[in-house]
Amino acid sequence: MKVLVVGSGGREHALCWAIAKSPKCKKLYAAPGNAGIADIAECVKIDADDITALVDFAKSEKIDFVVVGPEVALVLGLVDQLEEAGIKAFGPNKAAAQLEGSKAFMKDLMGKYGIPTAAYETFDEPDAAKSYIMRQETRLVVKADGLAAGKGVILCHNKNEAYAAIDHMMIERAFGEAGDEILIEEFMPGEEVSFFALVDGETAVPLAAAQDHKAVHDGGTGPNTGGMGAYSPTPVVTKKLQKQIMDDIITPTIKAMVDEGCPYKGVLFCGLMITDEGPKVLEYNVRFGDPECQVLMARMKSDTLEALLACTNGKLDKLEIDWHSDTALLVVMAANGYPNHYEKGSIIKGLDVAAAIEGINVFHAGTKTKGKKVVADGGRVLGITALGKTVKSAHKAAYKGVEAIDWAEGFCRSDIGWRAIK
Ligand code: AMP
Ligand code: GLY
Repeated sequence: MKVLVVGSGGREHALCWAIAKSPKCKKLYAAPGNAGIADIAECVKIDADDITALVDFAKSEKIDFVVVGPEVALVLGLVDQLEEAGIKAFGPNKAAAQLEGSKAFMKDLMGKYGIPTAAYETFDEPDAAKSYIMRQETRLVVKADGLAAGKGVILCHNKNEAYAAIDHMMIERAFGEAGDEILIEEFMPGEEVSFFALVDGETAVPLAAAQDHKAVHDGGTGPNTGGMGAYSPTPVVTKKLQKQIMDDIITPTIKAMVDEGCPYKGVLFCGLMITDEGPKVLEYNVRFGDPECQVLMARMKSDTLEALLACTNGKLDKLEIDWHSDTALLVVMAANGYPNHYEKGSIIKGLDVAAAIEGINVFHAGTKTKGKKVVADGGRVLGITALGKTVKSAHKAAYKGVEAIDWAEGFCRSDIGWRAIK
C-alpha cells in the first residue's frame, strides 16, 4: 500500500523507519519530512499544518493510509477531511483531538468521569485568577488552555511567580489566544511517566511506558523543552501498575469519550504523575510522544503498519504486539541555545560513523540537506538511540553514538536514564 506520514520530527523519522520495514508498505511518502527521512521515504514539500494541500496530495497520489504525527494537524481536523475524501488515516478526528487541543475540555472530562488528576480551576480573566491564587496554600501550576508548543505550563514556587505567570499569559499574551483562558492546578509531586495505548474507538491495547527528560540540563535543571531524551520500558511501571493505569485511567477515558459523542481513535498518550496516591493524569496527548515514539519504535518487534491499521480499522481486539525485552534509550542532540534562541544551518558530520555502530539508530529531528551535507534545521536536531539489556548498558551504547557525531554547534544531556540507573 501507499503510505503518507505527516510531520518532520524525530517521531516521524521513527514512524517512517518502522513502517518502511513492513512488507505491506510498497511506497512511503513524508510531508514535509527531513534529511534522515529522505533516505527511506519520498519527502514532499507540504507543511504538516497545511490541511488542504495534504488532502489534495493524498487524493492525487491515491494514498491508502495516512499516519499523522503532530497534534496541530489533528486538532485542525486533518483526519476528518481525509476520511471525507475516502482516505484512511491514523489519529483522532477533530472532536476527539480536543483531548489535547483544549486543557479545559480534558480537565472537565476527567472531573465528570472521576479520572484521577490534579485539582484545578479555570479562568478567563486575570483578576479572578489572582484572587484565587491569594486563597491557595499549596504549590501551583499555571497553564494556558490552548496549544502552546509545550511551553504554556509554568510551575510556580510561590504566589509571586504565579501572579507573574498570569500576567505573562493573559496580559502580555505570550502564547497568543492559547492564553485567553488559563488553568490553575495543584502541583503533584512524584515521578513522571509517559504511557501509550492504541485505541480503536472502543478497545484499548496498552503499548508501553517510557520516561522523558523535559528539562534542558542534567539533573532536571533549566527550562522545559520538548524532551531531551527517553527510555522504555521504565522500571517504575510494573505489570501491576500498568493494569491499574489501564483500569483507572485509560479504559474510563475511552468510555468517557464514547459517552461524550466523540469516540477516540489513534494513540492515546497519557502523561502521568506516579504519586503516593497512585497514578494521576498530568495531560492527554492525541499522538505519539517525541522522543518517546523513537524508543517505542526501536523496541517494537511486531509490524508497526499492521498495528496502526488495526487501530484505524477497529480491529484492535485481534491484535497482539511483540516487543524486544531490551531497553531502548535515546539521547537528543539539540542546537546550542535551545530551547531559547538557536541558529540553524550548522553542518553535522559523523552521521554515517554513528549509524554504522552496531545497535545504534540515528533519528533525525530537525535537519535538512544542503547539497550533499546535512545541516541543523531546528532546536532538537538528532536522536541517538540504542538498545541494551539494562538501562545502564543502553545508556552506554547510546552515548557511544553521540561521541561519533561531529557537531560543535550542538549539545546533549549526559544523564539520560539517571532515575532508572540510580
Ligand atoms: P503539561 O504540558 O501539562 O504536561 O506540563 C508540562 C510539564 O509540567 C509536565 O510534563 C510536568 O513535568 C509538569 N507539570 C504539569 N502539571 C503539573 C502538576 N500539576 N504538578 C506537577 N508537575 C506538573
Ligand atoms: N515528549 C513529550 C511530548 O511529546 O509531548
